[in-house]
Amino acid sequence: MTGHFDVLIVGGGAAGLMCALTAGQRGKRVLVVEHANRVGKKILMSGGGRCNFTNTGTTPANFLSANPHFCKSALARFTPWHFIDMVERHGIAYHEKELGQLFCDVSSKLIVKMLVDECHAAGVRIETSCSVERMTHGESEDAAFRLHTTHGNFAAPALVVASGGLSIPSMGATGFGYELAKQFGHAVLPTRAGLVPLTLSGKHQERLADLSGVALPVTARCNGRAFSNYMLVTHRGLSGPAILQISSYWQPGDDLRLDLLPQHDALQALQDWQRERPAAELKTVLGDAMPKRFAQRLCELWLPNRPMKQYNMPQLREMAQVLSDWSLVASGTEGYRTAEVTLGGVDTDELSSSTMQSRRVPGLYFIGEVIDVTGWLGGYNFQWAWASGHAAGNAV
Ligand code: FDA
Repeated sequence: MTGHFDVLIVGGGAAGLMCALTAGQRGKRVLVVEHANRVGKKILMSGGGRCNFTNTGTTPANFLSANPHFCKSALARFTPWHFIDMVERHGIAYHEKELGQLFCDVSSKLIVKMLVDECHAAGVRIETSCSVERMTHGESEDAAFRLHTTHGNFAAPALVVASGGLSIPSMGATGFGYELAKQFGHAVLPTRAGLVPLTLSGKHQERLADLSGVALPVTARCNGRAFSNYMLVTHRGLSGPAILQISSYWQPGDDLRLDLLPQHDALQALQDWQRERPAAELKTVLGDAMPKRFAQRLCELWLPNRPMKQYNMPQLREMAQVLSDWSLVASGTEGYRTAEVTLGGVDTDELSSSTMQSRRVPGLYFIGEVIDVTGWLGGYNFQWAWASGHAAGNAV
């Protein structure tokens, strides 16, 4: 099979589908090449099957990138409200969970169906289970890009790389976009797993492993960033939203600190407890402010456990320091196997921030997670996929 199109899009994920429907609505002949057996697999598994499809509080400050300004233009031109409009037009019920995070009431399948329906209505062709074997460039202006695939050869004057990052290889993630970018002379910034559980090793792991499943609110701090939310102890280390968020700012060797009493001024709380419950032991009063098993472990290994009345002021100060600035030595992350996103990627320096087009190769575009733009946890990554896909879809 051969075919000629206006736009070839490699990757039928969030960004690729948004780009396809946008370009299709402009009358462009669009082909999406997806090597998995269905499109939008990460959308399907996202948000625990309910897809946290955007965040109404999205600002450029919610993204990590070597160039923090790059995401501004696309995010400003396709806002969460544009996506919400589409969701409402398709009658998909949704709710706000917390902090502007919007989730489907029923299933993330509805988001994939909406995108595919919009693609079909716009005449977009989607080839699934279709692998790119080779790509050639420069044959003619009309067929500047030719994809040799398992389903035939397809040519177009524009090629959009929407192949995503490296996280969850079992869902179809590949390094295709990075390799292609390098082939065309683009710099690719080092990639690493983001929004990922942290692992502990040696005595750090032994001290906490049997608390697996215990969750508590913390403020996690690293490299000048702080996130307040739940932390979950796992068999291998730590997870939960506060840890996933801070993991994107953490690298091996970095100092990671946890405030274990984020709703309290720790010293004030200890003084209050001493005054109100002088005969109670520390582990008992702490156990009313955090999960009892965690409080007990703290008092076995990190804090001296006594009746509250027996502590003097310097001791209370020391304990407050431990509770509000607990040092955690993480050994690594769980890696791409469980990471929600990939940090780093195609350097934004040689891309147009308004169109996502390469400044080196006319007609070549990069969108979504393959670019060095990574959002926080909470719907920001999909918002970037929609916004960058929309920007390219309007430019191709
Ligand atoms: P995406 O990964 O969606 O799509 C890339 C597509 O390209 C895939 O379909 C892949 O199969 C295909 N592909 C790769 N190589 C190819 C090749 N060589 N040829 C053809 N096709 C190829 N974000 C958020 O905002 N809210 C959320 O709730 C979640 N939840 C979540 C849960 C889990 C478990 C994960 C792993 C991730 C999330 N995310 C998220 C992150 C979000 O899924 C991610 O940022 C976007 O899907 C990125 O969209 P892209 O289109 O760039 O890549």
